[in-house]
Amino acid sequence: MMKTLHISEAPFGATQAGVPVKLFTMENGNGMKVKVTNYGGIITELHVPDRDGKLADVTHGFDSVTPYEGDVPYFGALIGRYGNRIANGRFSIDGKEYQLDVNNGANHLHGGAQGFHKQVWKAKAFTRADEVGVALQYTSADGEMGYPGKLQVEVEYQLNNANELKVVYRATTDKATLVNLTQHAYFNLSGVAEKDSILGHQLQICADRYTPVDAGLIPVGGPVAVAGTPFDFRKSQAIGSRIGVDDEQLRRGLGYDHNWVLNKPVPGLLALAATLRDPASGRVLELYTREPGLQFYSGNFLDGTLKGKGRTYAYRSGICLEPQHFPDSPNRADFPPTVLRPGETYATESLYRFSAA
Ligand code: BGC
Repeated sequence: MMKTLHISEAPFGATQAGVPVKLFTMENGNGMKVKVTNYGGIITELHVPDRDGKLADVTHGFDSVTPYEGDVPYFGALIGRYGNRIANGRFSIDGKEYQLDVNNGANHLHGGAQGFHKQVWKAKAFTRADEVGVALQYTSADGEMGYPGKLQVEVEYQLNNANELKVVYRATTDKATLVNLTQHAYFNLSGVAEKDSILGHQLQICADRYTPVDAGLIPVGGPVAVAGTPFDFRKSQAIGSRIGVDDEQLRRGLGYDHNWVLNKPVPGLLALAATLRDPASGRVLELYTREPGLQFYSGNFLDGTLKGKGRTYAYRSGICLEPQHFPDSPNRADFPPTVLRPGETYATESLYRFSAA
């Protein structure tokens, strides 16, 4: 029998500027449910079954749009134009220098203070043969947050009956610019953020190398081997097993807050990047991406002051796995490039597959 896929939309309040925003609810035939608002393209809820089929919400978020407008560490948001850091917010293209918004110490982070995560996107629900979803659109003006060129961005969230949530990104520009889009959901597969830190979750990352960083979390030197370091997640490891060891890179990140160089026989291939597992509930997240890198951030800046959906977001209560290009790529000729030119189409996708064992 055909399992039913369903999508509905409802009001999600209005921004402080009075712009009404919506909340879309996608549901599949297994009861998996994903809620997305067109404010910041944010995933607000993500309900997935455990090994007994019991659903729980495994992502950090809030019940209304207002808290998302405040000082929030990118809960569930679409990030752009550039996910991660650019040193001093400076770069040049074709010999012309640009200065971006500086919003993280001396550096630019996640598109700037008014990046895509703070914008109201156009949104439309769709139903196709094998998936339901939301198509989001945003036009970023020439000069926004310091970036050159008018950028047209389209992102689709797609849910199917295999418990797969796919995020498909496209962008075009009228001047050479930078693009490095990502999704910033926090995951806690136990579904109980206030009780359970993610230190007991098991993580595997398909990467032989990572990029060490300076004190401002900008990569220094080239990628290095993870072998023999606490950054070795080639075999599944409890996140907490080595997070407390005395290691200069862990001190700089205050835990894990680094970019892994994904093993890719073919660049751009949609391939497994990471597997996250909660032994208690049995929930598993497999993340596939076309991107060359994965930022793994262990929620080191969460401190229990943010609350939402009846939960408290405590220290290390959630982790981010952000598929993206490497930090500071615009200033690194040795990293895969992030420049988009007129006439080209930026296209990437990532897939989040949930299961339980
Ligand atoms: C960054 C962290 C930052 C966090 C949220 C992550 O992607 O790597 O350094 O604190 O986003 O604020």
